[in-house]
Amino acid sequence: MSKSNKVGIIGLGYVGAPLAYLAAITGYTVIGIDNNEEAIENMNRKINAPNELHDKLDKVELIASNDYSLLRDTDIIIICVPTPTINNKPDTSILKNVISGISKFIKRGCLIIVESTVAPGMTREYVEQYLLKKEKLIINKDYYLAYCPERIDPGNKKFWVGNINRVCGASSDYALNKACEFYQSMIKARVIPMESIEEAELVKVWENSMRNVSIAQANLLAMMCDKYHFSVEQVLEGLNSKVEQFGLTLAYPGIGPGGHCIPEDIHYLINTSEKDIDINMNLLKEAVKINEEMPRYAYDKIKSIIQKSGEKVEKMKFLMLGISYKPNSADIRKSQALVLYNLIKNDNQKIDLYDPIAKYDIKDISSKKIFEKKISEADIIIVGCAHDIFLQLDYTHYKNVKYILDCWNKLDESKIEKAGIHYIGVGK
Ligand SMILES: NC(=O)c1ccc[n+]([C@@H]2O[C@H](COP(=O)([O-])OP(=O)(O)OC[C@H]3O[C@@H](n4cnc5c(N)ncnc54)[C@H](O)[C@@H]3O)[C@@H](O)[C@H]2O)c1
Repeated sequence: MSKSNKVGIIGLGYVGAPLAYLAAITGYTVIGIDNNEEAIENMNRKINAPNELHDKLDKVELIASNDYSLLRDTDIIIICVPTPTINNKPDTSILKNVISGISKFIKRGCLIIVESTVAPGMTREYVEQYLLKKEKLIINKDYYLAYCPERIDPGNKKFWVGNINRVCGASSDYALNKACEFYQSMIKARVIPMESIEEAELVKVWENSMRNVSIAQANLLAMMCDKYHFSVEQVLEGLNSKVEQFGLTLAYPGIGPGGHCIPEDIHYLINTSEKDIDINMNLLKEAVKINEEMPRYAYDKIKSIIQKSGEKVEKMKFLMLGISYKPNSADIRKSQALVLYNLIKNDNQKIDLYDPIAKYDIKDISSKKIFEKKISEADIIIVGCAHDIFLQLDYTHYKNVKYILDCWNKLDESKIEKAGIHYIGVGK
């Protein structure tokens, strides 16, 4: 793979932006395409590069634009746009728009790589079939096709796009070699060739669905521990002694997974498998159901504890801390904390919300000063997202607080209980 190759990357978000910088730093000439002005500006000003590359940005050739025609002479086009769901069904409209956008600008022999998460069969359905039908372009003759899913975990300090193993499937041996060589030239990790595009697609949706199911199991365990009056943490510690020796993976309970991957990707797998291969996907559907019910479960748990103590929930002031789907991230996509917040608000309870990290437009409390006032008036604090700033707070300092619901099981339970505040976790 020659470094003189020109690479086009479409979708400059959590997946596409780090990849664009990595490719540029490796020596490729990179053209980033996005339809969002902020994403384009961030890249043109080189302000959103991964930390690992900050000191290498001087000489890179990288431009971002919304003009698809710039892809005209690119040798590789990589698609990293969102593949969301609507009502638990895959929403492939963005993918379709992008394929239509690039279709007029595909250079002969170009390698098109899809990185967006899709289920088996979708890369061929949305790229190969479209290009044949609309542009009469023939795969492995006019262009080549590969699927190489991203596994990035934004905010992870150990793994970034430069050192995460990849799987890759392609339309021909030539395309597979070319795609594997391209990724291998950039990353210090393994690139595993798969037999087909569809196998690589299955690896990606399966790993995220597996995670969804493990989280559902952890949540089920938490519910059992609540009923038995066990501490889920103790049980998990016991389970960990098996993990230490046999290397199984444990998930932890909470109010359900959020983000653009774990809650969404499983629906790609469920829908496609039921439609294309008539397989019963009830196991996965149940996992989704358990996870989606967790905000309601947590809310009912706190209400029942308050009612048992003879107090009236309606008279209490709630304060939710943290709305992102994961700690120290601004991302609120599919945040279950947001679901919980809306549940409480729609139940006509008084609830304020504070999250100086999350990117959202319903900021109830915008300043630290108002936050201090609200927290000193709150009866119930809900840690919806365990940002470091909320783990470092001394909750015992706020005399009005009677209950703390820790949706992440991360706070110091004994310190809180010693101060006379009722600590409520998920499964403890
Ligand atoms: N976020 C993750 O941690 C992660 C990890 C692995 C895989 N993925 C998968 O990668 C894909 C991208 O996810 P993401 O998190 O980077 O999404 P994102 O929302 O962060 O970024 C997507 C980018 O695509 C742009 N875009 C949308 N429509 C466009 C169009 N028609 N033309 C050009 N640009 C367009 C958006 O403006 C945005 O900048 C998804 O399929 C996702 O499931 C995400």
